[in-house]
Amino acid sequence: MSTATPRPLAVSSRGPLKGRVTVPGDKSISHRSLMFSALAVGESRIEGLLEGEDVLATAAAMRAMGATITRGDDGVWTVSGVGVGGLLQPEQALDMGNSGTSTRLLMGLVASHPITVTFTGDASLSSRPMGRAIEPLSQMGAEITSSPGGRLPLMLKGISPAVPITYTLPVASAQVKSAVLLAGLNTPGITRVIEPVPTRDHSERMLKGFGAELTVEDGPEGKIISIRGEAELKPQHIIVPGDPSSAGFWMVAASIVPGSDITIANVCMNPTRTGLIKALRMMGASIEAVDSREVGGEPVADLRVRHAPLKAIEVPPELAPSMIDEYPILFVAASVAEGRTVARGAHELRVKESDRIATMRAALEANGVVLEEFEDGLAITGTGGAPIPGGGAAVSKLDHRIAMSMTVAGLAAAAPIAIDDVAPVQTSYPAFFTVLDSLTA
Ligand code: S3P
Repeated sequence: MSTATPRPLAVSSRGPLKGRVTVPGDKSISHRSLMFSALAVGESRIEGLLEGEDVLATAAAMRAMGATITRGDDGVWTVSGVGVGGLLQPEQALDMGNSGTSTRLLMGLVASHPITVTFTGDASLSSRPMGRAIEPLSQMGAEITSSPGGRLPLMLKGISPAVPITYTLPVASAQVKSAVLLAGLNTPGITRVIEPVPTRDHSERMLKGFGAELTVEDGPEGKIISIRGEAELKPQHIIVPGDPSSAGFWMVAASIVPGSDITIANVCMNPTRTGLIKALRMMGASIEAVDSREVGGEPVADLRVRHAPLKAIEVPPELAPSMIDEYPILFVAASVAEGRTVARGAHELRVKESDRIATMRAALEANGVVLEEFEDGLAITGTGGAPIPGGGAAVSKLDHRIAMSMTVAGLAAAAPIAIDDVAPVQTSYPAFFTVLDSLTA
């Protein structure tokens, strides 16, 4: 995990992408499937779980706190939960690897249990701000000692009973929202989160599915999400839909490499996750949703994507929460569009697995892309359909989405792009390069 050996890779153009791909299970839903199943009383089954390092870190943590989690030969995972309130004191620090979602959501869970947990992570995770989760969880009564700047390693001493709060999110963050709701699960009374800007709602959908009493209303300041604590969660059979963030790499690759025509099967189309599709369609991309259906309480579709000339746009800032993980790959699309694409209002990119504004600026600029950096985004002048010059280096900074985005950039480059390390791809999409080979065979 945090000790992976760097894997350099030079990527050059390979011709059109053709064929069909099924992307792995959604990362956000996979984390939550394991956590909620581990808190249910009885045995849950999970199909289509993403088996990337981030999700495996969550599985290891839930095991360390008492859940029994096994993977069958058929790829179906079985979880025997301890019940809300039943988490056990882990014997060692929990290593969260590269995973911000594991860390912030588990901080929430632990906050209302009478246990003390130390969270550690790799260099990337240890540089990310945890103050946004520390603040509300402290209000609920947890005692948290962090490293300077509210970073990992940190020690969290939970409390039971915790104090229910009403918390207005100061940043648009599904992780912070979920941390408070999960702390609320084992807190007497009603815990409320007010969300001025909507973010991914998987926690809300899934907690309801597990039988928690959770309501969502519109209020003057935004959505009011209320959860009644001391809940009893019932075990579930979960089918995890495909990850739209992983699908995004193939959507852009097929859109920018001439002659491409692919189908991406089983993509989660939850409206809080489809910002990239909207932005690409505004740019002129050919993305057709076929066989729209519902899987495990989430809308799902197959996407047929064909090469199309892209035009620059001003990316509407209000799309940011629904495509926050997709900006790096959108920047690649903008690099071959005609005109100057401006993507601003995405300040949160500064605190992801890397500073994704600075990391993508450096990687694209080193490969001949013309751009301008702002505090909250980038403006990129595209080639108008011609290849990106390429021939430069790209530093992935322990960030899976940078490694995959720059791989896609390499497919549309005149000279190879030398990525220093693609090992981080293991955190969210272990089969990424195998799929790339199959689509370009
Ligand atoms: C996630 C929320 C987002 C996203 C992350 C997954 C989640 O983070 O970037 O990859 O599963 O709740 P923020 O809450 O920091 O926006």
